[in-house]
Amino acid sequence: MENKIKKMPKHVAIIMDGNGRWALKQGLARLEGHRVGVNRSEEIIDCAQEMGIKYLTLYAFSMENWKRPNEEVDTLMMLLKGFLDAKEEKMRKNGICFETIGQISFLPKEVYETIVRVKKSTQGGEKMTLILALSYGSRDEILRAIKQTVLEVKNGKIAHEAIDETFFANCLDTKGIPDPDLVIRTSGEHRISNFLLWQLAYAELFFTDCFWPDFTENHFKNAIEEYQLRERRYGLTSKQIEGTHQK
Ligand code: FPP
Repeated sequence: MENKIKKMPKHVAIIMDGNGRWALKQGLARLEGHRVGVNRSEEIIDCAQEMGIKYLTLYAFSMENWKRPNEEVDTLMMLLKGFLDAKEEKMRKNGICFETIGQISFLPKEVYETIVRVKKSTQGGEKMTLILALSYGSRDEILRAIKQTVLEVKNGKIAHEAIDETFFANCLDTKGIPDPDLVIRTSGEHRISNFLLWQLAYAELFFTDCFWPDFTENHFKNAIEEYQLRERRYGLTSKQIEGTHQK
């Protein structure tokens, strides 16, 4: 008898890629791809929440994205602010707690202030935590965590022998957030692009050729279904894993 319970991932992280290529394919400007991309993000946030996913991380703006043409950076900032202004009340009502990872102090003042406001007004939301990676780079995050660790050793707050994975994880921007179970990347690229390098150690990876503006609820549900078919072994054997299921 089939007695395996289909496990919902607790934390899903998404590299939303392909906005530019999607737009060019339609004969539109790249910026239009980002506009439609935001609508997709909204749909996927709603869907994740309805499915009972507890943490959803969206890679919205990388450290490297600062090097894009000014017009594109400005549009992305405007879209981000527009999204937060428009969705704040809905997030609050739906019990979504809004968080960010990355160096948000680098963002334009009005965007930064909006982020701080929405974080505050949605604080304590228990249905789902929505995390936007903004001005985020994983190597940058790890370096900042190393600097913090060195400082704490120097100030005598921790002995260097006492540094363990839990201590280090708590120095990262994702402190208090469980590691992603599933990472989805759209647009046919098969890479991680400086995203959550420490936190993805045991994540399942799902790649799809679909560009982000074409990524619908059904694509998202398919990714979750595929995740549910995978066996996560964490370095153990299948037999050992079966043993833990039976306990
Ligand atoms: C990648 O497409 C996408 C980005 C760099 C930005 C992602 C941002 C959004 C979808 C909108 C922000 C979302 C929220 C929730 C406010 P690309 O431009 O790299 O596409 P390409 O690889 O085809 O050029």
